[in-house]
Amino acid sequence: MASEEQPLPDGTIIVELARSGIVLTVSPGQSILDAVREAGIAASSSCEQGTCGACATEVLEGTPDHFDAVLSPQEKREGKVMMICCSGALTDRLVLDL
Ligand code: FES
Repeated sequence: MASEEQPLPDGTIIVELARSGIVLTVSPGQSILDAVREAGIAASSSCEQGTCGACATEVLEGTPDHFDAVLSPQEKREGKVMMICCSGALTDRLVLDL
């Protein structure tokens, strides 16, 4: 499959949902949770502020940029789980177990 490489605006993240095979473009200022829902995928959430842990999602590839108050410093370093309501990415692309 040919891919057209186009530069992405700063802060844009490509998020691949491993279970559904959907690839999302998350715009700067948009949460991953919102982008996932816009794609029609149900995702758990409650506080949507990074404090409850309801939206915890396994990260399969890429490095999350954590902005939650749920994960321990070690969990944040490991980068295997992220709160998709508030956290972003340090890499251009994330693959999530959704
Ligand atoms: S919805 Fe509460 S931490 Fe994301």
